[in-house]
Amino acid sequence: MNSLTNLLKINYPIIQGGMGNISNAILTAAVSEAGGLGTIGAGTMTPAEVEEIIKETIKRTDRPFALNVALTVSPYVREILSLVKKYTIPIVSLSAGNPAPFIPKLHEQGAKVLTVCASVKQAKKAEAAGSDVIVAEGYEAAGINSALETTTLVLIPQIVEAVNIPVVAAGGIGDGKGVASMLALGASGVQMGTRFIATKEAPFHDKYKQKIIEASDHSTLIVGRSVGRIRRVLGTDYARKLLSYEEKGISLDDFNRLTSEEFHRVGALDGKEGEGFMNGGQIAGLITDIPTVQQLMDRMINDAKKQLEHAFLLFK
Ligand SMILES: Cc1cc2nc3c(=O)[nH]c(=O)nc-3n(C[C@H](O)[C@H](O)[C@H](O)COP(=O)(O)O)c2cc1C
Repeated sequence: MNSLTNLLKINYPIIQGGMGNISNAILTAAVSEAGGLGTIGAGTMTPAEVEEIIKETIKRTDRPFALNVALTVSPYVREILSLVKKYTIPIVSLSAGNPAPFIPKLHEQGAKVLTVCASVKQAKKAEAAGSDVIVAEGYEAAGINSALETTTLVLIPQIVEAVNIPVVAAGGIGDGKGVASMLALGASGVQMGTRFIATKEAPFHDKYKQKIIEASDHSTLIVGRSVGRIRRVLGTDYARKLLSYEEKGISLDDFNRLTSEEFHRVGALDGKEGEGFMNGGQIAGLITDIPTVQQLMDRMINDAKKQLEHAFLLFK
């Protein structure tokens, strides 16, 4: 147990990051049941759609879970956050925007707040606004990324130095060695997205899972740099098509349309890699199997312990 697991009332310091629109109650509940923290990703879903997933998650687990709201992505921030009180959701993760206007009310409702940050400045502001935990996400991560392009390895120790609340490392973690390394850098836990795609419970198309397994260390691409809307995706035909549009010149509106949730679903849930995109992080190259969530988390914790013991012996 550490400050993070005590605060969130979880057994393992492993969080499944929100995956807007496409992850579901089964994955969220499986991670929480396995001792970590599962997260519902609100994405652009309507409040009614999010409410259904919350109800289904509560049916499947009585352990803590989180609700992620990407503040500049969701058109329904306030309505969705009102569900926190209605369902006594214990933990809220806020990303892609300024959390300050929302934190006091969430605290009044008894929720702990995690804020996803990509710089020391953002982390300090989130701490000053009352955030309970910083999720520090590096440029290796899948999905929408910060234009600052700072990697996890350098981001974590700098944020750990700068704030006095627990820091969770996100971006590029996929096994026990990754967990051990982030703990050694001063993080209190990890958040993963890409590794959880290739699990039995994840509701994604088999072709998506297979693409993660087949990925090498350079199988992801950054799209959207030309319009300032950076996203890390698997290097599929669709991703290459987006890059060719960017080379010719594409407007932000057109880029946003082509990377909207409609095209996310086509790639991730329908498995049509030429017609929709698949978010993917650089750690995909390390992933070679599709375990259950419980198998994955037990293995990661055992391997992290071994790795830390090994490192300790080297210094004895
Ligand atoms: C399919 C997918 C969708 C994602 N959607 C969101 C989202 O809606 N909100 C958010 O804060 N992060 C989102 N992320 C990022 C994850 O929550 C997590 O922080 C990130 O994947 C960690 O890096 P990793 O992919 O290297 O493990 C998404 C990631 C994936 C793989």
